[in-house]
Amino acid sequence: MARKKHIEQPAEGASEVAAAEEQRERAWQASLRPRTFGEYIGQRELIENLSVSVRAAKQGGWTLDHFLFAGPPGLGKTTLAHVIANELGVQMHTTSGPAIDHKGMLAGLLTGLGEGDVLFIDEIHRLSPVIEENLYPAMEDFKFDIFVGDGPHAKALTMQLPRFTLLGATTRMGLLSSPLLDRFGFHWQLRYYDLDDMIAIVRRSARLIGITVDEAGANEIARRARGTPRIANRLLRRVRDFAAVEGTGRIDGAIAASSLDRLAVDHVGLDALDRAYLSVVCERFDGGPVGIEAVAASLSEERGTLEEVVEPFLLQVGFIARTPRGRVATAAGFGHLGVAAPAKAPTGGQGGPQGRLF
Ligand code: ADE
Repeated sequence: MARKKHIEQPAEGASEVAAAEEQRERAWQASLRPRTFGEYIGQRELIENLSVSVRAAKQGGWTLDHFLFAGPPGLGKTTLAHVIANELGVQMHTTSGPAIDHKGMLAGLLTGLGEGDVLFIDEIHRLSPVIEENLYPAMEDFKFDIFVGDGPHAKALTMQLPRFTLLGATTRMGLLSSPLLDRFGFHWQLRYYDLDDMIAIVRRSARLIGITVDEAGANEIARRARGTPRIANRLLRRVRDFAAVEGTGRIDGAIAASSLDRLAVDHVGLDALDRAYLSVVCERFDGGPVGIEAVAASLSEERGTLEEVVEPFLLQVGFIARTPRGRVATAAGFGHLGVAAPAKAPTGGQGGPQGRLF
């Protein structure tokens, strides 16, 4: 889900400019994607499991099981699907839950697959119930039921599909129905990347695009990228611009820190929306407990964006906690804003951002 709010009403033509920038950003991210398990940095346990399954499928000549990847945006779910398809040497077909809006569209997708191909469905928790039901026999038996004709003469036909691997991605594992979940051979929650992995990702990306970044520069970008490769690559691009215009083109700690300060990304990686969320819970609602709807209304932000993008990281760094009565800010969360915490504020578990993530 895109983070887009907190900007003025766009001027005329601004949406075209934004669309062009989004396109460039997508191309930039795609060019930095690892293509093999060997190139992939981080998520080691998952990569090991996947590479065993892929090797076994290739050796045994069978089709890889259906896999589901869950986790906040930017952690590599789509990248993993590309890597798997590439390692299997098959074609990848990409779609998303909301894009499959009628049964005919699903039929078209499934019948367009080649033997052994990968079908990647992003945001799979947003499939409609009808589409989901039609997907079950396709996942289980590689069969698809269609109806030919109308009224009393309608006939049910079962089509045999090629064997394929469904790779699903979701930011909201909890919204997946259990029949759908049960049909995946394996599901995995992706975690935020630790600092060493983030540094390695920044260095690799810099190398691929021919930018010189020293140790302090890589460290500064990695530390502020909230454990998320997509954000690291985005920040690297912004810092490169500052370094080219205002420096020597080389990224060191000072230019990285000053650029990121100017982009309002703070020293643990919170951006304006993260801080606005924290400030609403700490200051307007006195540390909570507060319901997500009230926070969303205060920020004029969609609840889904807060739940899928903002909260996972604030929970991870221990700035907020979820309780049955709503969200609460921890002492570490208050501390991050430089606001005195009330005595009731929980401590935030394992000692704040550095303790948890890095
Ligand atoms: N670029 C984005 N994600 C990456 C990863 N996990 N490993 C290497 N390069 C990446």
